Parts: sequence; structure tokens; C-alpha cells
Amino acid sequence: MIDLIKKLPKAELHLHIEGSLEPELMFRLSKKNQVDIPYKDIEDVRNAYNFTNLQTFLDIYYAGANVLLTKDDFYDLTWEYILKCVENNIIHTEIFFDPQTHTARGVPFDVVITGIKEALQDAKAKYGITSCIIMCFLRHLSQEDAFETLDAALKYQDDIIGVGLDSSELGNPPSKFKDVFKKAKEAGFKLVAHAGEEADFSYIYEALDLLSIHRIDHGVQSIKSAALMQRLKDEQMPLTVCPNSNIELKVFETYKEHNIKELLDYGLNVSVNSDDPAYFKGYMNQNFINLHENIELSEDDIVTLVKNSFKSAFISDELKEVYL
Ligand code: HPA
Ligand code: ZN
Repeated sequence: MIDLIKKLPKAELHLHIEGSLEPELMFRLSKKNQVDIPYKDIEDVRNAYNFTNLQTFLDIYYAGANVLLTKDDFYDLTWEYILKCVENNIIHTEIFFDPQTHTARGVPFDVVITGIKEALQDAKAKYGITSCIIMCFLRHLSQEDAFETLDAALKYQDDIIGVGLDSSELGNPPSKFKDVFKKAKEAGFKLVAHAGEEADFSYIYEALDLLSIHRIDHGVQSIKSAALMQRLKDEQMPLTVCPNSNIELKVFETYKEHNIKELLDYGLNVSVNSDDPAYFKGYMNQNFINLHENIELSEDDIVTLVKNSFKSAFISDELKEVYL
């Protein structure tokens, strides 16, 4: 089974590029850019990665991102993730970035997007890896702030395929961003949103009905509503599930309690993704391996999960046919 997991060409649909910042690169950039980080060595960093919920992770994740300043930094960050794609046999990836985390520190939008984009162009040229970029609004900030971010993105519409919604979920429901998602839709962006990660399934309904999203990020709380499960099945709405993340952030106490198999058996369009792999102990293959070691998944289940990613990707039907 582990052989099959490693050999299957895969797609990733839920990956925060800032969450792929490995401690080694964090230290290198901290020294180069003279930005202090609250750790004395790599071991100290790893010890700090001990989360009790989403917010305890986000506090550390935003602190880590402070070391990213120049175009080269964003290039190196993205390139290191691409090398992990090669190791994990990921042939298509859709990458989230959080512009507000950087523009709030005075790093121009242009610096961030150009560094990421150039690395992705090189990934295509060197390894044939295809990709898209999705810009996320930070939901703990205001909708007005999100509008400013959307305005900044309008001139990069050739580079940014969609918008998403991430950060602190509880208390920041999708309805808070209804108007900015409407504008993003009118501008032609694909739409996704984190929903039903920690917050209840009402957030998933809001994301579907008020934001008109094309995919739900996480969505594991949908299991609490039979009516929602039926709807997600009928619509074949993609759920980009992130098993390691859910365990590390205590959405489920143990792997054995993870509900991905129930979601899959019910007929939902679920996929496996790594979310913030530098913080959650592993990249794509490790997510599959952990599932396999704790949950009864057949070879067919693994193949279905992988196919669902390609089915739900923001790529042309022609490319889907090649990949499927
Ligand atoms: N949830 C919400 N926001 C995030 C996450 C997540 O899992 N990772 C990075 N930003
Ligand atoms: Zn996420």
C-alpha cells in the first residue's frame, strides 16, 4: 500500500505556501534579513510546534512568516515546496498565499506574487509540474481590508486563479465576507473557503449559499448534518481534507477518530492535502501513510481520493483528461 501511495501521481488543492516554511529556511532568512525569531535552534522550533487548536497554530505560523521579505525569499520558499512535490509525486498543485500577512509588514503585493510565480514557472520548465495560485483573505481582519486586497489582485488576474478565506474561523463566519466574494465572483475568480474545520456546519452552509464557493476547504464538520451530507453528495462539492492538520490542531483527538473514510463511503468528493506541512509533520505522502496506518482504507479508496483531487482541480477539461 505504501508503495502505491508513493507511486501514484497526485494533485494538491489545499496548501498554504507560508505553511511550507521549514525551520531551516526560517533560520537562514532570519539571519539574512535580521528578523528575530523566538527560537534558539531547530529543536527549539520543533518543540514549539505543539498546538491545542487552530489559533495556537496561527500565532506561530504568522510569527514564522515575518522572516519573508524579498522576492528571492518567496521564490526560495516556493521552490523548496516544489522539491517536496517532486519527492511526493505531486504533478499538479494549487497554492494558497496570504497577501495581508505580508502587505501589513510593508512587503509589497508585487514582491510576494512575483517570487511565488517565478518559482512555479521554473517548476513547470524543470519538472513539468502544473500549478495555480489562490489568494486567501484573512478572516480575522475586516471585509474592508479584504476589499483592498482584492483591488490589489485585480492586475494579477493572469496569475491568480481564485480567492479563498482562511485564518481564525470561530467568530468569523463566511457571511462577514459576502460582499467581497460577490465582487471576486464578478471579476471572474474561482472561489473557495475554509469552512467547517473547527466551526460547526452552519459555516459550510454560509460558504455555499452566501459565497457561492466551488470547493470547501476542510469541511469535516459536515458529518453532523444529514441534510448537508446529502447536498454535498448531490452536488459533488469538493472537500479538501487535511488529515495531519486535523490531528495536529485537535479537530480529532486521534487518527482513528478521523472521519475521512465515512465521508468517502457516503459518496462525498473528498481529497487528501497537507495544509501546512512544515508545521504538521509531513507532506502529502505522509498524510496518506498516516491514514493507511490508522484507518482501514482499500487500494480503491486511495485511488478515489487521488482522482478526486484531479477532478476538483481548477484546470481545463483537456488537462483533466490527461491527468485522469
Ligand atoms: N485553517 C485556517 N487558516 C489557516 C490554516 C488552516 O488550517 N492554515 C493556514 N491558515
Ligand atoms: Zn488550510
